[in-house]
Amino acid sequence: MSSISKFISRFFSSEKQKAIKHWQFKDDLEKADLGDEFIQLKIDILSKYGVENIRKAWLSVTSALEAEAQTIKKQGASVWPEVNYVDIENATVSKDILDAIHRTGIVIIRNVLPQTQATELGEELAKYLHENPTVIEGKVEICLVLYITKMSSFTGLPKQNPWLYRSYFSPTQNTVRTHTNSIKVHRFLNELWEGYDGERAHPTPLSYADALRYRQPGGFSAVLQPHIDAGSLDRWADDEYQTFYSKIFENKWQDHKPFDIEARLKVNQAKFPGPHQSTVLRTFQGWTALSPSGGSFGQSALAVFPNVTLGIAYVLLRSFFKPPANGSTDPNLWELDISDSFPGAAKGLSQRISPSTHPHLRFNETLSLTPQINPGDLVFWHPDIIHAVDPTLNSDKPATVLYIPSVPLTKYNLDYVKRQRDAFLDNGKTPPDFQEWFVQNEGVAKGWKPVQDFAQNSEARQSLGLEKLTGDFDIVKTANKILGL
Ligand SMILES: [Fe+2]
Repeated sequence: MSSISKFISRFFSSEKQKAIKHWQFKDDLEKADLGDEFIQLKIDILSKYGVENIRKAWLSVTSALEAEAQTIKKQGASVWPEVNYVDIENATVSKDILDAIHRTGIVIIRNVLPQTQATELGEELAKYLHENPTVIEGKVEICLVLYITKMSSFTGLPKQNPWLYRSYFSPTQNTVRTHTNSIKVHRFLNELWEGYDGERAHPTPLSYADALRYRQPGGFSAVLQPHIDAGSLDRWADDEYQTFYSKIFENKWQDHKPFDIEARLKVNQAKFPGPHQSTVLRTFQGWTALSPSGGSFGQSALAVFPNVTLGIAYVLLRSFFKPPANGSTDPNLWELDISDSFPGAAKGLSQRISPSTHPHLRFNETLSLTPQINPGDLVFWHPDIIHAVDPTLNSDKPATVLYIPSVPLTKYNLDYVKRQRDAFLDNGKTPPDFQEWFVQNEGVAKGWKPVQDFAQNSEARQSLGLEKLTGDFDIVKTANKILGL
């Protein structure tokens, strides 16, 4: 190895160590004090599926994880299935790629927006954020003053080095969400799920307004540790959610169907409401990149555990077992745990996962970074995927992504879109899922324009609840009634 290669290798390995250190929990997050109700929940699950089945599943899943870690390590960034947007437009995505998306639960879609346009949109967004006052988390008194004076204020967090901006209806977000190509991608992603009956669910894309990441270059930022969205304790405590994973508890985890829309739409993923909960069913969560990122540690990459079934199976089973007193990670030595401990889970929060609480995931080998992402590329992951963000950004440019998921047509999702529509028509009011943080009217921001001004095509207007949905399906009739159209 040349001295330059050695230097590069040492540099990236130290960036990796920083990330792994950041991704360890603080002790107080390892165990929430949940109480007897959750002891009973564990006893109920063990009685329903059988202690023996759950133990066999634990041993089988941890053994499969050991083998999978070697495969993932060898694959490196090539574990990410990649699709070129033009293949979605021409319906020429290969079966191999579709199989890889179903196996891993992740996908990168290249060239959805032209690079130059995406870069310009990123610059416009930066200007918009800089021209409007931003309140950094923790300084509530300033926030209130701004609200009373009717000035717009975006909340940025965390205090030290903000990267999450609670702007939902900026011109940039509206432009991207209503872009024909974005909507075509969302339909493609929705169609990767199976079991749409046209009565309760259909792959017609709906629009979900989430926030954005605008991360300044330079060094460390306390970005997201490994976690899974769409609830935490909810996965065990909501009957339908638990049923969605029943094959895992029955020790038939290979038969689990992570893309079964019919089973998933019955789920209440926010049984315990809270500020981290999205209430809609997203087929994939997603980033629209407006700047370069990824390719190595230190470049604000997204890191995922790239096996949708094994990751969630391990997390669900982990709560039923605890390490022996000597701290061995040998799964055969782990003992049945009938306490109220659900490591990393808490009411109203996402499922957090740390190398110390979930050691069999072998994050050192398995957390797979996005390869080089360019402006205009989209990154998506299934709602059961473990994901984290690299805490360092050694670049001279900001790393900007818009959180734009794919959302199918279901009765609940449509009802949410109606409430979201009524909110943005009210001078850009904060969308319903985010009102617990802070409610404001983004319409008073400098440079703001009404959302409906951006929806130039019928599919975009339909996705936002602004126009009657078309199609000969029962759910379309229900949808138009809900929308009052
Ligand atoms: Fe997340």
